[in-house]
Amino acid sequence: MRPVLASITFPTSPPSASDGAAVYAANCATCHGADGRGVVAGSRDFNDLDYMRAAAAADFYTSITNGKGSMPGFRDELSDGDRWNVTYYLWHWSVPDATLALGSQVYAANCVSCHGEDGNGAIPQAPAFTDVEFISRYSASQFFKSVSGGKGIMPAWQSRLSDAERWASVEYARAFAYQPVRGAAAPTRPAEATAAPPPTEAPTATPVPPPTAAPAPTEAPPPATAPPVATQAPAPPGAPAGDAAAGKQTWATKPCIGCHGPSAEGGIGPKLAGTALGWDQVLSAVRNGQGAGMPAFAAAVISDQELADIYAWLKSQ
Ligand code: HEC
Ligand code: HEC
Ligand code: HEC
Repeated sequence: MRPVLASITFPTSPPSASDGAAVYAANCATCHGADGRGVVAGSRDFNDLDYMRAAAAADFYTSITNGKGSMPGFRDELSDGDRWNVTYYLWHWSVPDATLALGSQVYAANCVSCHGEDGNGAIPQAPAFTDVEFISRYSASQFFKSVSGGKGIMPAWQSRLSDAERWASVEYARAFAYQPVRGAAAPTRPAEATAAPPPTEAPTATPVPPPTAAPAPTEAPPPATAPPVATQAPAPPGAPAGDAAAGKQTWATKPCIGCHGPSAEGGIGPKLAGTALGWDQVLSAVRNGQGAGMPAFAAAVISDQELADIYAWLKSQ
């Protein structure tokens, strides 16, 4: 990726691709075509999947702002917001609703435990997909590479998900940072909870608000503290004393959930709830990694004490 000018102003709320449609029709279609396939010499085909996947939104925004080759810059003609909206509009040809719908399924089944339903990360190491700057600086291809081969403590997905599933989940992750044109399958952002329902292609006589429009307001809140689990079990041989209740809470914040499941019931990695493993085996698996699928974790990610608490919780189940 080319270095992006440091002077870019990134929006603080998600750009709207649908608002970009009118900007495009008025300012861009003469040279790029209403279908985005390009009219004048040198203009690009925005329907070209490979081209759009390799492009970073921040680079497009920079070209649209300052001009490029024979394309004029729109710094003075269009507001920052309009330039961001039209930038993200350019992806609606290569990322149809069907892609986001597939991405939504893949994300819910494989990604949500670490990245969260709101895309902001369920574990501290995960980046926030709602961060427009983060999403704009990278191309989908770069994200695809990370998702396929793994990055940091994120497992590699290439042997578990098809190419199409990985591309779709990447586009779904990107769509946390902008509002896609139709957006029927787009991620739900908290800010949208009260927004008007998205325009539908064929308006019905009695529009029904989408299920997310009215979150159940007064569900009884969960008890502030979980029912007491056996706490301060006597330390197994060699293990520091662990607090099962603390371990249960710590588990929810650690990358372990992404592979072993929210209740340690198993997933990519084996079930750990009720484990018969000794402390030394657990410590060794975590510090050194195990087999092909279990990465090693340093004390900065999970300390001995945190692991001892988790171990006490696992044993208590
Ligand atoms: C006068 C014709 C013209 C107009 C108007 C125009 N473009 Fe372009 N655009 C071009 C040409 C030609 C290129 C290829 C520039 C090059 O690579 O030398 C281009 C390139 C681009 C690129 C690729 C930039 C890159 O970094 O490679 C994007 C994105 C783009 N245009 C978007 C837009 C948008 C959005 C608008 C309206 C706000 C717009 N263009 C208006 C002619 C135009
Ligand atoms: C076990 C937890 C975990 C799971 C499960 C997981 N991720 Fe990640 N993901 C992470 C972490 C942690 C990072 C940050 C990696 C880093 O930068 O060191 C990350 C980074 C990313 C990035 C940014 C990559 C980059 O190049 O900066 C994308 C995109 C992504 N994940 C998408 C996904 C998708 C899509 C899925 C499901 C198919 C998924 N993740 C499943 C933990 C996870
Ligand atoms: C990227 C996915 C992934 C993450 C994240 C992950 N594990 Fe694992 N874990 C595995 C897999 C896969 C195995 C089975 C490895 C093998 O034996 O081939 C495993 C094995 C283990 C074992 C040994 C189980 C046994 O029966 O031998 C323990 C203990 C364990 N993991 C604990 C953890 C803890 C604690 C964390 C969080 C710090 C964690 N794991 C995070 C995938 C993961």
